[in-house]
Amino acid sequence: SQPSSITVQGSTYQTDSKWFNVPPNVLSATSRRLHLQKDHPIYITRQIIEASFPGPTFKPYSDLSPVVTTHQNFDSLGFPPDHPGRARSDTYYINGTTLLRTHTSAHQADTFRADESDGYLISADVYRRDAIDSSHYPVFHQMEGARSWDRTKVPNGNIAAAVLKDMKAIPGHGIKVEDPNPPFHPERNPLQEAHHSAAESEAIGRHLKKSLEAMVVDVFSRAKAAAFKADPDFVDEPLQMRWVEAYFPFTSPSWELEVYYAGDWLEVLGCGVVRQDLYINAGVPNKLGWAFGIGIDRIAMLLFRIPDIRLFWSQDERFLSQFAGVSDKLDTLGRFVPFSKYPPSPRDVSFWLPRDGDFHENDFMEIVRGIGGDTVEEVKMFDSFTHPKTGRESRAYRIVYRSWDRTMTGEEANELHEKVRQTLTQKLGVELR
Ligand code: PHE
Repeated sequence: SQPSSITVQGSTYQTDSKWFNVPPNVLSATSRRLHLQKDHPIYITRQIIEASFPGPTFKPYSDLSPVVTTHQNFDSLGFPPDHPGRARSDTYYINGTTLLRTHTSAHQADTFRADESDGYLISADVYRRDAIDSSHYPVFHQMEGARSWDRTKVPNGNIAAAVLKDMKAIPGHGIKVEDPNPPFHPERNPLQEAHHSAAESEAIGRHLKKSLEAMVVDVFSRAKAAAFKADPDFVDEPLQMRWVEAYFPFTSPSWELEVYYAGDWLEVLGCGVVRQDLYINAGVPNKLGWAFGIGIDRIAMLLFRIPDIRLFWSQDERFLSQFAGVSDKLDTLGRFVPFSKYPPSPRDVSFWLPRDGDFHENDFMEIVRGIGGDTVEEVKMFDSFTHPKTGRESRAYRIVYRSWDRTMTGEEANELHEKVRQTLTQKLGVELR
């Protein structure tokens, strides 16, 4: 049943049977491009984040095809050949060298090569095989930003001074941000000492942090304004942010920015000082700078208080009409008013894993999503044990079927679930219990 070729954004690609793993529902999502659909909450959130990174310094790109090479997505960024992100269980492949980008960083090298401006913003749909719940969907959206300085173009070649001077243009905020880490860590986050002085790298890191903090403060103050509009009794909690150490193969040092929201520290973005190899390989060895990547969907969920990531894919007017006109008038942004939920249909399935031990949970998730589509709200393991004699592992999952758009009958859930059960035995070699 596998197609011999597929067409995405007008280009056709040959599939290969060893690698191809893009199901029809994911393939058809490539044409939706929610980040380009005016008044869609993903589009609005993109506009809001972009407002913190104005032109001409930052040049926006939003029309890059989701089909990239393994080189673009992984090799060009320094991912080692055995990196787990490359596995077919995590990534959608068209053939051995072609895939659906897993992050907007896939375009870093090319954009550094082609772009003459001091910075860029790339917003795009990205694809990952993953769990199924209210905050995970195989397609989501990211924005990548980068800011570079050219040694040959700053006064006296003094990058640190130029960067610190440019920092003055970034709006400040009165919020105290936790940042307990030293600027460098010898193993985890080394200074790229072959290429940068400590003063240069520290200046770039400071510019990066100030830029991203300003963006987050802007996004959350808009969320707050929307909350007040919806509920004048809304109790304002002061915004808290903290920087934590991170690791990405294409930046050093690297950080994540976390925001305290609704009782939890939430990771909102990853960033760092760009590995000089990227600039060198892109033919611009005199440049240096920073890059970040942020997930748009989760920010949109916070901004509008959207409870389920599947709603972004809904064509239901009760959803879409709530955002009409906001793109042209961002200060009319309000909160999403949930329409009534239909009752859930939970169904359980338990099975013995195949004897050869070759079971990837994401394959299971995808079978469920492939059959149930967007009626699957959540898939959650609730029991697992290993048989003391045979050593075989048994797992039990609860699948919650529920549509946002219509009532599902019990029979409909039963039918879907039966199909899931059959497909699991056929495709994954599990033994139903
Ligand atoms: N691409 C990274 C991710 O998806 C985020 C990132 C972008 C980190 C740019 C550093 C620099 O997690």
